[in-house]
Amino acid sequence: MKRNGMCPICYLRKLFVKHPQTSENPKFEDYENGAPLTPPMGWSSWNTFRNRINEKLILDTALAMKENGLIDAGYNYINLDDNWQSSMRDENGDLQGDLETFPRGIARLAKEVNALGLKLGAYTSNGALTCEDLPASLGRENADAYTLAKWGVEYFKYDFCHNIPISSYAPLVYGISVSKFDGNATHYSVHNAVLNGYARFMTDSSLPTGSYVSGLDGNCGDITYNAIEADEDGDYVLTVNIKKQGRYEKYLIAQVNDGKEYEIIFPPQKKPNKTARFQTVISLKAGKNKIKLYNPVTSKADSEMYQYRRMGIALKEATARVAKETDAEIKPIRYSICEWGFGKPYRWGAKAGNLWRTTPDIRPWWFWIKTIYSHNVKLYKYSSPGHFNDPDMLEVGNGKLTYNQNVSHFSLWCMMNAPLILGNDLRKMNDRVKAIVTNKNLIAINQDPLCKQAKRIKKGAVDILAKPLEGGKTAICFFNKSRGRNSSSLNLNRLCDDKYVAMKKQSRYLALDQWNGDKIEIAEKLKVKLEKHQTKVFIIQ
Ligand code: GLA
Repeated sequence: MKRNGMCPICYLRKLFVKHPQTSENPKFEDYENGAPLTPPMGWSSWNTFRNRINEKLILDTALAMKENGLIDAGYNYINLDDNWQSSMRDENGDLQGDLETFPRGIARLAKEVNALGLKLGAYTSNGALTCEDLPASLGRENADAYTLAKWGVEYFKYDFCHNIPISSYAPLVYGISVSKFDGNATHYSVHNAVLNGYARFMTDSSLPTGSYVSGLDGNCGDITYNAIEADEDGDYVLTVNIKKQGRYEKYLIAQVNDGKEYEIIFPPQKKPNKTARFQTVISLKAGKNKIKLYNPVTSKADSEMYQYRRMGIALKEATARVAKETDAEIKPIRYSICEWGFGKPYRWGAKAGNLWRTTPDIRPWWFWIKTIYSHNVKLYKYSSPGHFNDPDMLEVGNGKLTYNQNVSHFSLWCMMNAPLILGNDLRKMNDRVKAIVTNKNLIAINQDPLCKQAKRIKKGAVDILAKPLEGGKTAICFFNKSRGRNSSSLNLNRLCDDKYVAMKKQSRYLALDQWNGDKIEIAEKLKVKLEKHQTKVFIIQ
């Protein structure tokens, strides 16, 4: 850990005091972008086609979605995963489709899939490159978001390969200035500000202010100016003056009037001069304004939250800009965070986007689907309308999964409020697979307006999950994880004591089997027999 200009005693204190991670308890509002509030349904190219995608495949798949009744069943996104883009940005530095496999461009493809009743999705990475080492969007969020919005893209998956974390170090600030693009800057020394936390004045007579402030690293302190004057409401240039220190990147947020946050990245510093200045454009109101400078990044997870939020904001601004330019309604872009779960995105994902991957990549392997389920099922509290845990795209119909395994996989994803993004070859789907993924009852459970993820009521060879549904109904799922036949039972009266499930006690219950249509009337105990790897789902009313 670098001392980064801090007073030695503060530095020692900082070494021994652990500062809370900003992403553990983010103070932001939930991300709202006008996208539908139930989990997204669609298809993605990745699970089956990897780097073998082209325009014809996408259009054939779109047609297959229509002809197989998938669009009618609710699947309305067709998502290009990695490999849609050329390794070369265009002459303006913008993303463009692969010049060989998507020669007519992505805007045209979007229009063509729209004509079939589908919305187009696209993908890049929150890094220098995607996982296939193609152009990605870290540092180019605004431009890329605008390109996607202009093309009419309505779903965006943002991966995590080649990520470069934000630095937890802050620069040594000795003053700021504010101007109105007219060269007349008002200068504010750090002595005009209030210092909080570990922020300290350090003497340096070579600086115009005679001192700088250190101790802003890793959420340890801040500099707050309470009286920044502005003549009128509008945009202003904020210049941050720093003493150069060390060949490593630094980061600050300028928060204005306790609201909007503006990021400033300070590249590693060489020293032909002792000082440097970095700028951003901020919006001020007429009169006195408050500007707080701080670095909230204590960990990789904090960095991820800020970087994913940055893209989320860029997407919203881009869709609004395109709507204005074309005099049309805003076309929201569903924003899918693909961070693989390492930085606990379920804690901060709802503040940054619409859905967040909770695990590494799915594969069509039964043990792995069960492992993903076992992790994701525990996260039920983090799911809410418009914000979902994402245990990854479906493998139904892929690999060597048996019929029961396919049914279980689909049922569990429906119960867990997961996005239903198919990953099989829809041009060659057999009737059994089609019947699974178009099961109206299961889809209705997944799309229930309450958007509550099922809670695991019982863990064992047979797991039991309960998902509260609109109108006081409850979906109950029995999942036989074991290699043999099994039986299980659930006392419904006792289930009514569970506050999350919020089911009403009745003298008799009606259990409707959502896979085979059976109706069972019961007094108290719902009993089931299950084949190897079988799942049964009931609605209790
Ligand atoms: C990562 C993601 C996958 C897929 C690939 C594409 O591994 O987690 O879902 O998008 O990248 O390269």
